[in-house]
Amino acid sequence: MLLGQALVLYRIPSTGQYALLHDRCPHRFAPLHRGKLVGDSIACPYHGLEFAASGKCVRNPLADEPPRTAVRSFPVVARHGLVWFWPGDPQQANPSSIPNYAFLDGQEVWRRRSRFAGHHELLADNLLDLGHVDFVHTATFATGGAHARAEQEVTDTGDGGLLVRWTLREVFRSTFLEALFSPAESITQILEMSWQPPSCMTLSIRYGITDANGTMVEERMRMINPHIATPESQSATHYFWTCFPDAASEAFARAVFDGEDQPMIEAVEQYMGGEDFWALRPAVLPGDAGALRARRRLMKLRRRESPSGRLDDLAALDDGDGPLE
Ligand code: FES
Ligand SMILES: [Fe+2]
Repeated sequence: MLLGQALVLYRIPSTGQYALLHDRCPHRFAPLHRGKLVGDSIACPYHGLEFAASGKCVRNPLADEPPRTAVRSFPVVARHGLVWFWPGDPQQANPSSIPNYAFLDGQEVWRRRSRFAGHHELLADNLLDLGHVDFVHTATFATGGAHARAEQEVTDTGDGGLLVRWTLREVFRSTFLEALFSPAESITQILEMSWQPPSCMTLSIRYGITDANGTMVEERMRMINPHIATPESQSATHYFWTCFPDAASEAFARAVFDGEDQPMIEAVEQYMGGEDFWALRPAVLPGDAGALRARRRLMKLRRRESPSGRLDDLAALDDGDGPLE
């Protein structure tokens, strides 16, 4: 389920490319994914109509001519082991707007998915405001207020994206950090969450020694992870992430995402009661800067895309650093 629709994704045997089609036969609305592949086409399990990767009906096994019908097909590109689709006007599909996850190519990781009952923007709210870590992840990260003391900086990456950087000084000396730093050294952690519309994030975590200006002069450890949200519907989201390739790392990540973030995000979704985020007039805190800019950018993009969208107040949606109304 993506964007409230059942879709069927398959690999085209002759080319190895992917095809993504509406998973509903236009004849009597059977689920195509229960059918089978016939050559490069997918055959409906009910009366056998065959649909090409383009969505066009190319064969009716019970007649000489196929009917003039089609299922909707979506532009799809596979990159770095991720499949990207474009649900808007196919003419506007632009592969150069696909966020860069090239770092995944060199990683030995397990790729995992979680699902939560909440709007996808609630995940960006969560990940772009790591101030929640001190409060929500008490049983896992146990940061004990380190995030509250962090310096935060939001920058425009110039390509439609944002970068939120937190600098945490004198971080807690966990056993694994004790192995990397001498007792006399002060450990600085720099967390950077990048955001690309609509909801593609990457977290870089670095530990090292900084100079008096806060610049990292000696990096001792670096990790980089994807955090990608794909809407299942208006009120449910697929959350794609990775972990080290072992059961303990997956269990830890699940304790963090599924055990701590998910119940909070789902409670928020429920308590928002289907109301629009802005209509609820959210209180604004300093730590929200990144999340609010991401929400405004997304709203602009949505309005630009929808010809019936109200464009008159676009100026009021300035995503700069100016004060919020
Ligand atoms: S429902 Fe698909 S062929 Fe009849
Ligand atoms: Fe979290």
